[in-house]
Amino acid sequence: MGRSSKDKRDVYYRLAKEEGWRARSAFKLLQINEEFGIFKDVTKVVDLCAAPGSWSQVLSRKLRGNADDGTDVKIVAVDLQAMAPLPGVTQIQGDITKVSTAQEIISCFEGESADLVVCDGAPDVTGLHDLDEYIQAQLLLAALNITTHLLKEGGTFVAKIFRGKDVTLLYSQLKLFFKNVTVAKPRSSRNSSIEAFAVCEGYHPPEGYVPNMMNPLLDLQYDNFNQLTGVNRVIVPFIACGDLSAFDSDRTYPLQLNEGKDYVYLPPTQAPIDPPYKEAIMLKRQNKLAKPEFQVSQVTFSGQCSGSTEKLNSDICDADKSNSEKEELPAVEKLSERQDS
Ligand SMILES: C[S@@+](CC[C@H](N)C(=O)[O-])C[C@H]1O[C@@H](n2cnc3c(N)ncnc32)[C@H](O)[C@@H]1O
Repeated sequence: MGRSSKDKRDVYYRLAKEEGWRARSAFKLLQINEEFGIFKDVTKVVDLCAAPGSWSQVLSRKLRGNADDGTDVKIVAVDLQAMAPLPGVTQIQGDITKVSTAQEIISCFEGESADLVVCDGAPDVTGLHDLDEYIQAQLLLAALNITTHLLKEGGTFVAKIFRGKDVTLLYSQLKLFFKNVTVAKPRSSRNSSIEAFAVCEGYHPPEGYVPNMMNPLLDLQYDNFNQLTGVNRVIVPFIACGDLSAFDSDRTYPLQLNEGKDYVYLPPTQAPIDPPYKEAIMLKRQNKLAKPEFQVSQVTFSGQCSGSTEKLNSDICDADKSNSEKEELPAVEKLSERQDS
C-alpha cells in the first residue's frame, strides 16, 4: 500500500495536511460552527482533551485571526498528553476529571467565565463496544462536570458523544443544564462511526446548583427504556450538519481533486510530541517487541501431535501469522472507524 493510499481513502485526512491542520478532526469543529454559529461573540474558550491540537488551531485561527497581541481572546487547551505549542493558546497538561484542573483553568481566565467549552475527548478504546460506549459517556459527564465550573450563563458546550444506547439518558442529563441540546453529525465524521457531537446551547443550571466534580455515574438498570412511548420517551433531536456540497467522509476520491492542480503528497502537519505508544514503536523498529509463546493442548497438525501438549515456538507463530492477521486487521480497522478520531 503506497503512502498516498490513505490520502485517497480519507479525503479529510488529506485536506487536513494540505490546509495545515494537525488532525482531520478540525473539519468537524468547522462544520459544527457552520451549522450552529458557536464562535459568535466568543472571547474566552476552553478546549478540553485538545491534543494534538487541531480544534485549538481552529479556535486560534477563527477567534484571533492573525493577531499577535492586543486581542482579548483567551484560549485554554487541556489534555493528559503534551501538545506542541500554538499561537495564543495556553496549555494545561492535566486530567479533566480533577478539580485541580478546573481551578487551573479558572486562574487562566482571572476569575471570569468561558463563553464556550468544547470537548473532543476520547479514551483509549478497548474493542469491547459496550465498555467503550460506557467510558465515552463517563468522559462526557466528566466534561460536563468541569464545564459547570467554567461556563457563563447562556454559554455553549460542545462534546463528543457516541450514539449508543445511553444517548437518551445523556441527552436528558445535558438538558437539565442547557436550553437546547442537539446531537450533530458533521459530514467529516464517518457514517460508519457512532461518533456524533452534543451541541448544548444556553447554559442554565438548575436553580441552586452547586458545581462539583462528583461523577454522576450512569445507571444501566433501565433495560426497557426504549419501549416507552409518548411523553415518557425522549426523542433526541438529531441533525446532519451542512448541505451535500462538502466531501463525503466515507467515499474514496481520486488523488487529483481539482482540475489543473496536481496532487502532491504531504506529511502530517504536526506529529504528536510525546505519545503513549512511543516506546512500543521504538521497540518494534528495533525488533525487540516480545513475541508471545502459546501453550496449546490438543494440537493436530496433519494428524500428528494429537493429544499432546505442544509449546509453539516463535517460528510456528510466524508461520501462522498470516491467519491471525487476516482475522485481526479488520477488527482493528473497525475499532478506529467506530471512534473516527
Ligand atoms: C480524539 S483526541 C482529541 C483530538 C483533538 N480535538 C484535535 O483536534 O486534535 C482525544 C484526546 O482526549 C484526551 N483525553 C482522554 N481522557 C482525558 C482526560 N481524562 N483528561 C484530559 N484529556 C483526556 C486524550 O489524551 C486525547 O488526546
